[in-house]
Amino acid sequence: MSRQPFRLAILEGARILEEAGVPNARIDAEILAAHVVGVERPRLGLVPLVDRDVLDAYEALIAQRATRKPLQHLIGEAHMGDITVAIGEGVFIPRPETELLFGWALAYLEGNYHRDEPPVVLDLCTGSGILALAIANARPDAVVHAVELDPRALSWARRNADAQTAAGDTPIHLTQGDVTDRNLLAELEGGVDLIVSNPPYVPDATEVDVEVRDHDPAIAVFAGADGLSVIRPLVSNAARLLRIGGAVAIEHDDTNGTDTADLFRARRVFGEVSEHPDLAGRPRFVVARREATAAEAEWLQ
Ligand SMILES: C[S@@+](CC[C@H](N)C(=O)[O-])C[C@H]1O[C@@H](n2cnc3c(N)ncnc32)[C@H](O)[C@@H]1O
Repeated sequence: MSRQPFRLAILEGARILEEAGVPNARIDAEILAAHVVGVERPRLGLVPLVDRDVLDAYEALIAQRATRKPLQHLIGEAHMGDITVAIGEGVFIPRPETELLFGWALAYLEGNYHRDEPPVVLDLCTGSGILALAIANARPDAVVHAVELDPRALSWARRNADAQTAAGDTPIHLTQGDVTDRNLLAELEGGVDLIVSNPPYVPDATEVDVEVRDHDPAIAVFAGADGLSVIRPLVSNAARLLRIGGAVAIEHDDTNGTDTADLFRARRVFGEVSEHPDLAGRPRFVVARREATAAEAEWLQ
């Protein structure tokens, strides 16, 4: 059977995706090509010719992507830090911007917790578990808890946590729960050093891409008319769960940077509130520190 030039197939794949309205069609065509032949995208040039069965597999993936099935569902995985998690229908596809929250969390732990004092970390709204698992991988000394409400998402998180534990990484503690519940994780009250969260935060009326509309669970994306229906009670729970001196970082919609920061500023138990932009300069996450109330400060003296 004659081998055929892969480059021509990739150009044709990009054309088909472009015609289907896929954003960044060329990049997706290359990522799918790299996936099919099992190389990293920058190394595609090392595979000039491929067999007909490889082309068939590639064309089938392009056809699926042209229906606006998300790229990550076709590849079946997503990455954060040094870890890879399985992704598919029923769970939110992790977004690249959440790497910023992850990077901030690692730097915070590095600056504040040395290896001989294991920090307690809590990931609220964990979805596939990616943030909790990436932190547990990077900081094996940390005790990492994660909470998810949706049973389908939770089963992906369990599967990913099991795979990482089997690979020798620190296990995480997964709980099915509602992060807006005032009794959530009562046993951890006042004992958490760091809370991270990428909750649902898109205002209900926002128009989203077809991939998001048809494949991300609505519960993972939308959060009331103002996008704050989960963040608002989450801020109250953070006040209750954090140790005095602990910190919380919450990702939010780019329309809600100041509103999210104001939710923290409105509570006397939070200080050092800071707003953090993403790489495009859009407001992306807010950080706050749990401070002692006057009564707590007196008690601590
Ligand atoms: C935007 S996704 C983020 C998932 C993951 N943290 C990530 O970055 O890929 C939000 C997640 O929160 C979950 N969720 C929504 N409302 C929740 C609630 N009230 N309590 C707990 N989890 C919730 C959704 O099911 C979804 O998995």
